[in-house]
Parts: sequence; structure tokens; C-alpha cells
Amino acid sequence: MTPATAAADFAKRLDQTAADTEALLGQLLSDALLPDEIARPKRLMDAMRYSSLSGGKRLRPFLVVESSAVFGVPREAALLAGAALECIHCYSLVHDDLPAMDNSDLRRGRPTLHRKTDDATAILAGDGLLTLAFDIITRDEIHRDATVRLLLTRALARAAGIGGMVGGQMLDLAGEGRFGDREPVDVARLQQMKTGALLRFACIAGAILGKAPQAEYQALDDYGRALGEAFQIADDLLDVEGDPAALGKPAGADAALGKTTFVTQLGVAGARKRVRDLLANADAALSIFGDKGDVLRAAARFVAERKS
Ligand code: IPE
Ligand code: IPE
Ligand code: MG
Ligand code: MG
Ligand code: MG
Repeated sequence: MTPATAAADFAKRLDQTAADTEALLGQLLSDALLPDEIARPKRLMDAMRYSSLSGGKRLRPFLVVESSAVFGVPREAALLAGAALECIHCYSLVHDDLPAMDNSDLRRGRPTLHRKTDDATAILAGDGLLTLAFDIITRDEIHRDATVRLLLTRALARAAGIGGMVGGQMLDLAGEGRFGDREPVDVARLQQMKTGALLRFACIAGAILGKAPQAEYQALDDYGRALGEAFQIADDLLDVEGDPAALGKPAGADAALGKTTFVTQLGVAGARKRVRDLLANADAALSIFGDKGDVLRAAARFVAERKS
């Protein structure tokens, strides 16, 4: 495949997965009760729907679907796992935007959830999305082998929790000097945790669902780490140089909050170079898959070059 054909194929597949994920999340967040649920309060459901049915690139579900496709995992199962991951991502954004965290007014081109409603509703909507993710990821339709479901669930918990996204968010705030003296920041570790962990999970999810041989699991792990770091550096570059209209969120927020990023540490040119190096690492990791890695290769390029 030429790079141009791969890019066109990538865009089509990303759109399709985004549409399928949107539809699936719509069903999962319907008012219909599940067994053992007592009620689905309207205000909570409306808030959860507002923050998760409102667009977004759906890159994480896409990576779950495409890493799964490499091993012939049924698309429906991968979409469900991707929807669970997207619930966690959306919750992380709702809480990230709260006044107590990044205090942001705009997300995906609309008022942030706490702006649209109130802080308590936004906190509970985030809690609801996090919990729903674990309901979804353990469902029988994910995989008929319960051990595979267990491994996937544990991997998701580790990516989302203390040693992953939540821990990374804590380091991010500590690095601003929120809790007293500004601590020296290990930016690579911070980003690996706050953003990289969920993206890496998306990439290894296919290997777990497909019971991949160790070398192929490792290749997706290496790819996911490189892609995850490149993704956050691109986000930090967009915060400096991006167009808020395209981004759907404010620019300049990191500097206003005094965040430490690769852009503050390496400068714009240095950060760009690091993204290029990571793109090369991501490409190299995929060599084991030959042509079957083409879509993931295009995904890494998209991450490095994205404008929103
Ligand atoms: C934004 O993630 C938050 C970060 C981890 C930098 P995305 O850029 O994937 O946000 P959406 O889902 O497309 O809105
Ligand atoms: C957020 O990083 C990462 C998570 C939500 C875990 P940022 O704070 O940089 O994300 P944006 O720029 O608000 O989307
Ligand atoms: Mg933040
Ligand atoms: Mg933020
Ligand atoms: Mg940012």
C-alpha cells in the first residue's frame, strides 16, 4: 500500500469505528435498566450521554479494533472492549476539566460538563462512566474464555488506575506546584502514565483478545508506548500552536497553569523531533506484522500529524 492509500484507508476506517462506537455507546447509555439495577436517574444519564456521545476522535476504540483485527478477533467483541475504554477516557476528560483540576470551559467544541450542569453532576457522571466501563469489559460477549476477560479487565484497571492514568494526573498537578513546592517533573513518566497507559492498553487489547504469541504481544506493547508518548507531545504542541476552533478546547491552557511538558523542556523544535523519533519507533515495532500492520502504521502517523 502506498502511504497515500494507507492514509485514505485509515481515515475511512477511523470514521467507521467512530460511528460504530457512537451507536454502541448510545445503546449502553440508554435508559433501559440492566438486571439488578434499581433505576437510572435522568440527570445522571443525561450528563453521561452529554460527555460521551459528543464526538471526539474515538482513537482509543479504533486502536482496540485494529489491534484486534491483526489477530482475527471478531469486530463486535473489539468494539465492545473499545466502548469500555472510551467510557474511561470520557470520564478522565470530565474530571480533568473540573475547576479543581484544569478548570476548563470547553471540550469537544461545547461547554464542559460541569459548565453545562454543575460540579457534583460532573463528578458523578465521571464515576458512572468509570464503573460502567468495568461492567462492559467483563461481559460474556467480549470473549468466551473467562480467563481472557479477566486478563483484559486487569490490564484495563492497571492502565486506568494508580500506576496509570489516575497516578499520572496526580503527578501532572504536583508538577504545577499545586501542593506546595514545585517538584522536579519526570515528564516522560508523567505522560506515560496520564495518557500513554490508556493508549497502550488500546494497542495490547487486541493481543490479549487474540491470545497473541509473546513476540507479537511485545510488538504491540512497544508500538503502544511509542504512540502514547507521541500522542501527548502532539497534544502539548497543539496547546501551544493549535487552533482552538479545530481543537474544540482552549489553547494556551498548559502555560496558564504552569504545566511542565516536553514543549517547556525541549522547546517546540525539540518536542517535534521527539515525536518524529517516536514515530520511527512505532513503525519499527510493527515490522513483525508486515502488511497487516499498515493501518496501525497510518494511525501512528495520524497521531504525530494531527491538528485536533
Ligand atoms: C484528549 O484526548 C486528552 C488527552 C489525553 C491529551 P483526545 O485528543 O483523544 O480527545 P478526544 O477523545 O478526541 O476528544
Ligand atoms: C489530560 O491531559 C489527560 C487525561 C484526561 C487523563 P490534558 O489535560 O493535557 O488534556 P486536555 O488538553 O485537557 O485535553
Ligand atoms: Mg490535565
Ligand atoms: Mg486538561
Ligand atoms: Mg492538553
